[in-house]
Amino acid sequence: MTDVLLTPFDLRGLPLPTRVVMAPMTRARAVREVPDDLTARYYAQRAGAGLIVTEGAPVSREGVGYLFTPGLHTDEQVTGWRHVTDAVRDRGGRVFAQLWHVGPASHVSLQPGGRAPVSSTDRARADTAFARLPDGTPGRVPASAPRALRADEVARVAADFAAAATNADAAGFHGVELHAATQYLFEQFLNSRVNDRPDRYGGRTLADRLRFTLEVVDAVVERLGAHRVGVRVSPFSTVGNMPEDDKAEETYRALAAELAARDLAYLHVHDTSGFGGDGDRVRALLPALRPEGGRTALVLAGGLTPTGAADLIGAGLIDLAAFGRPYIANPDLVQRLRAGLPLAEADPATFFGGDATGYVDYPAVTGAARHPA
Ligand SMILES: Cc1cc2nc3c(=O)[nH]c(=O)nc-3n(C[C@H](O)[C@H](O)[C@H](O)COP(=O)(O)O)c2cc1C
Repeated sequence: MTDVLLTPFDLRGLPLPTRVVMAPMTRARAVREVPDDLTARYYAQRAGAGLIVTEGAPVSREGVGYLFTPGLHTDEQVTGWRHVTDAVRDRGGRVFAQLWHVGPASHVSLQPGGRAPVSSTDRARADTAFARLPDGTPGRVPASAPRALRADEVARVAADFAAAATNADAAGFHGVELHAATQYLFEQFLNSRVNDRPDRYGGRTLADRLRFTLEVVDAVVERLGAHRVGVRVSPFSTVGNMPEDDKAEETYRALAAELAARDLAYLHVHDTSGFGGDGDRVRALLPALRPEGGRTALVLAGGLTPTGAADLIGAGLIDLAAFGRPYIANPDLVQRLRAGLPLAEADPATFFGGDATGYVDYPAVTGAARHPA
């Protein structure tokens, strides 16, 4: 039974008609890094979700690690996103922008002035970026060696996130989600085996490991209010060759408590065990990520089936369930669940890049969600 998935939820004042979230997914269709009509159509088709979280939107040029990702740092991008949020709102939907800084998972060719990508450390790791190959075609390239952010630059990065949050507000988003998962800039600070800094943002003590993330959270909360801010994390993830960190449990318990103390809208846990990582440990950690009496909702994503998700909500372990790949192939996912219809499978060949194929041409099979023209 999946009925509980289809019950309403109050997300810190934003009423969600169901507990079904569309997980953030980079689709790399924005050739000019600006959302366009196709982007608006794609999200409008999925407006039946309880909540949409957009693909990662870089907060600055420095935050870019993939070609064709629509950012939130120029006026043109804000206008482009405004069309997207209008289209989603017109269809009765709710949408948060995912704010993204890839940290070291970038390449000098994508960085301002051809400079090195930034991280917590200047130790190189085996990341990749999505940039131009020597023959000019887009493809995976080894990430360039990073440079460690200076302590006095952290305020500037926090300001970039705050500015992107203000841009998201101007673009009509209901809120924002900070992408602190899967190897990108925040994880470089949170992981004690990567973060070898000797200063107050270093990996040695819990307070220092959390400091970068919490300073960015606070800068964004100051702009939007805590009720409009979520944070995505991926405890125990090894995506992007992140090393296993024996301090991860301590780090994420404490981070969850800090976010709950700030009364954030939600903590979004990405269980990456389907891509590398320990799913059992993530599940075991869930109760500790939801402090007693807190109002911060807990969202889970990663290989969920509708029945599995409903069981977790029914057991009181999570509040909301996020679906990624199912949302690619089932734009009317909620309506299909309501009607008890089978789900279509998405084609990985069209996940990233390309055109309308595999993007806006998956049909809605329920009358409730006819595609906009
Ligand atoms: C094509 C694709 C792009 C993704 N891009 C992002 C992204 O931009 N930000 C993010 O946090 N996660 C991203 N993810 C991870 C998804 O949000 C989700 O957590 C993951 O697919 C697991 O959920 P699923 O098993 O329901 O697909 C992406 C996943 C896919 C398949």
